[in-house]
Amino acid sequence: MEIKGTVVMVTGANGGIGQALVKAFIEQGAGKIYAAARDTSALASLVQLGQGRVVPVQLDILNGGQIARIAGECADVEILVNNAGINRGLWFLAPAGADAARDEMEVNFFGTLAMCRAFAPVMAHRGSGIIANVCSILGLVNMPANGTYCASKAAGHSLLQALRGELAPKNLRVVGIYPGPVDTRLTAGLEIPKASPEGVAQAIVEGLAAEAEDIFPDEMSRQAHAMMLQDPKLAEREFGKMVPA
Ligand SMILES: NC(=O)c1ccc[n+]([C@@H]2O[C@H](COP(=O)([O-])OP(=O)(O)OC[C@H]3O[C@@H](n4cnc5c(N)ncnc54)[C@H](OP(=O)(O)O)[C@@H]3O)[C@@H](O)[C@H]2O)c1
Repeated sequence: MEIKGTVVMVTGANGGIGQALVKAFIEQGAGKIYAAARDTSALASLVQLGQGRVVPVQLDILNGGQIARIAGECADVEILVNNAGINRGLWFLAPAGADAARDEMEVNFFGTLAMCRAFAPVMAHRGSGIIANVCSILGLVNMPANGTYCASKAAGHSLLQALRGELAPKNLRVVGIYPGPVDTRLTAGLEIPKASPEGVAQAIVEGLAAEAEDIFPDEMSRQAHAMMLQDPKLAEREFGKMVPA
């Protein structure tokens, strides 16, 4: 599909991957990019870069009233990228493990679900649209050191699979995005090789343009996915042993 001229929304647009996505959509000629963030003051440089094409939108994906209003006001969105997410970085059995599991499920699963529930009917009414959810390679295999996060992303993976079937008859496409480690605030302090947010964002936009259903936007995610396809139990064991410094 042609990205040029399309109307896009990116949530978590002030974050590492979010900012890079907005820039990549600007570069690819998107017609309008709604940059959604809790703190819109953090979007000033993107708005300037967009030269009239970047529209800041204040949005907390846990605020149902705000989501409903924005789905009405931004009814021209053709590609919704649900990128907002959190990672508390905890083991399930850590003292705060149960709280982390709830928080992550709230944002990564229920927040994303609320966005899909608000925008799918708007897109269906118009007759077409793409919902692209930023999941994670850790939604396909669990790394226990971030066990609660992985569980929320696994729920997110299941969500997008379900929506794919539910929305296909309405001519809406659902895209799954499965990055490996990316150098953003979310992975700050983790001593592991990381992809750049710019490279990941470019691969995501290219994947959308190529109409890929699942996007593995970096080398680590592609390798991990290949291992999962070849030997899922090996992948489970390998990720089970990983303890990032
Ligand atoms: N970095 C990685 O290694 C990696 C790998 C795979 C997948 N991902 C996924 O990629 C996405 C982006 O993460 P990132 O790496 O770019 O991390 P990041 O820099 O921390 O960005 C996360 C973004 O999500 C926003 N957010 C969190 N809770 C929100 C809420 N309730 N409502 C609206 N926005 C909210 C944050 O806004 P505030 O600034 O207001 O908190 C921020 O803009 C996430 O879904 C993450 O799980 C990241």
